Amino acid sequence: MDRIPVKACVFDAYGTLFDFGSAAAGCKDVLGDKTVAVTTLWRDKQIQYTWLRAAQGRHADFWQVTGDALDYTLETLGLENSALRERLMGLYRTLSPFPEVPDVLATLKAQGFTTAILSNGSPAMLASAVEGAKLGSLIDHVISVEEVGVFKPSPKVYTRALERVGAGASEVAFLSSNSWDAWAASAFGMRVLWCNRYGQRHERLPGKPDREMRSLDELPALITRA
Ligand code: LAC
Repeated sequence: MDRIPVKACVFDAYGTLFDFGSAAAGCKDVLGDKTVAVTTLWRDKQIQYTWLRAAQGRHADFWQVTGDALDYTLETLGLENSALRERLMGLYRTLSPFPEVPDVLATLKAQGFTTAILSNGSPAMLASAVEGAKLGSLIDHVISVEEVGVFKPSPKVYTRALERVGAGASEVAFLSSNSWDAWAASAFGMRVLWCNRYGQRHERLPGKPDREMRSLDELPALITRA
């Protein structure tokens, strides 16, 4: 298959660059065999709340939504405990990057691609994640949905990314592990490489990723400079 010609690589943050599972994993001493259940329900509820708030036009930032989703999760699993809540939220500020991320970003920078994050995360959350993972020198633009005041998959979010990186939709490679985000960016007109880390099924929604991979390791071989 031909390499996809693009100018910029725009990455989703949570689940794509940063492992949201690392927060609950860091509290395994307390969570024990509920660790995976906390990760899964917390994430599902967090994303549902972003969609529901976007549909209602009642935006709150991702820090608020993440805390609300955690409260729902801890109550559901019988784990309500304010010290545990604070610990999990603290860990969410500095999630571990997936292992291949620093090398892949360094390769893309060396090849002359513009690199960016486009995320639901609030500016403060994204700044601490990038700093904690020491990725600051490898990412040209950190773009938060707070700049437009609505969550993904509003087209306003993808439009903002084009404005910030200074490229047309077809000149941007968008990378997300979230299938719904990948489908939406494709429907918007971006070139999409779906990082299907979690072995999800194909969505039945407008759009279709141009390529699918299991880890970002595969990315540099799939694109070329436009
Ligand atoms: C983000 C979520 C969707 O970073 O993973 O925008």
